[in-house]
Amino acid sequence: MTTEKIDIISGDYEEGVARAGGILRRGGIVAIPTETVYGLAASALDDRAIEKVFLAKGRPQNNPLIVHISDISMLKDVAEDIPDAAYRLAERFWPGPFTMVLHRKNTVASRVSAGLDTVAVRMPSSIAARDIIAASGVPLAAPSANISGSPSPTTAAHVTDDLDGRVDAIVCGEDCAVGVESTVVALFSDPPRLLRPGAVTAEQLRAFLPDLVIDKAVLSEPAKGESVASPGMLYKHYAPETETFLAEGESKDFVSFVNSQADCAAVCFNEELPEISVKKISYGDRNDQSTLAKNLFSVLREVDRLGVKRVYVHAPDKLGMGLAVYNRLLRAAGFKVIKL
Ligand code: TXA
Ligand code: MG
Repeated sequence: MTTEKIDIISGDYEEGVARAGGILRRGGIVAIPTETVYGLAASALDDRAIEKVFLAKGRPQNNPLIVHISDISMLKDVAEDIPDAAYRLAERFWPGPFTMVLHRKNTVASRVSAGLDTVAVRMPSSIAARDIIAASGVPLAAPSANISGSPSPTTAAHVTDDLDGRVDAIVCGEDCAVGVESTVVALFSDPPRLLRPGAVTAEQLRAFLPDLVIDKAVLSEPAKGESVASPGMLYKHYAPETETFLAEGESKDFVSFVNSQADCAAVCFNEELPEISVKKISYGDRNDQSTLAKNLFSVLREVDRLGVKRVYVHAPDKLGMGLAVYNRLLRAAGFKVIKL
């Protein structure tokens, strides 16, 4: 299939948005920018369009998708038995990098939820994303626009590398400002549960959900055969081709560890660059968690160009957005952690 490139930065914005909306309305699949990562969108009401999304990404059929809406009035079209807390959270965190899992309304294609009776819903803050949803006239299911398992795409070039020839169109917009996927919270369960950390932090959520629990899959590997609340957290994911390890500890220990290894590269903090004698890429200052998040997936894609056998990534502190970065790195490393 030839993939149409719709450039909404140097091309005509209104025309591009209308064009993407039309393709989506007719059952096509289109990669779109959002503030978190690029998404591969399809009508959430169209089972056949959703099937194309799973095929294009090579996504396991049991991993459900997030439904994106452009206006709070669309929430009742996709979910039911919506608790008051959902409206309070929506008022505070929407539009933004925040997803709520609620009871599914059966107008939503069953493939979207991979057979579950719940549905994950988010209203993005990206204006282009909301304009495309509105132009399509339907809620849009959109997983990250990468081949399943590879690092999530934060630029239109990343999307093209993974999905050119596999999707109807790619909307080329801005680079993603947040850089990691939205925070996912299950609200249908009691107590509410944080399934995936993101830019809306557990600390911020506790003001609204004092009994919020952090699902144990966030920071550990689920046991073989164990069922998890968020199927997306099961797998090795976000991973470079190069064998990746997550290394936890002080800067001086990280530096001396990587300097003693052969045929390796280090993904490190800016402060460590001058001390490291092997190949290296920095992903930001140690204490600047939002920059670490923004650079994370680009850096994981760059790793494969270094031509080394192994890469050691210095783990961030798990504070604020650091928890989201740590959660993604744990999966990128296939849960291989070195305690320094
Ligand atoms: O920021 C984001 O959320 C991005 C952009 C494109 O909006 N989308 C995204 O989608 O990250 P995806 O498919 O890569 O991740 C969806 C996550 C997975 O971990 C999945 O298991 C979880 O949400 N999820 C979706 N529906 C669920 C449900 N009904 N119950 C539990 N978890 C669900
Ligand atoms: Mg994904």
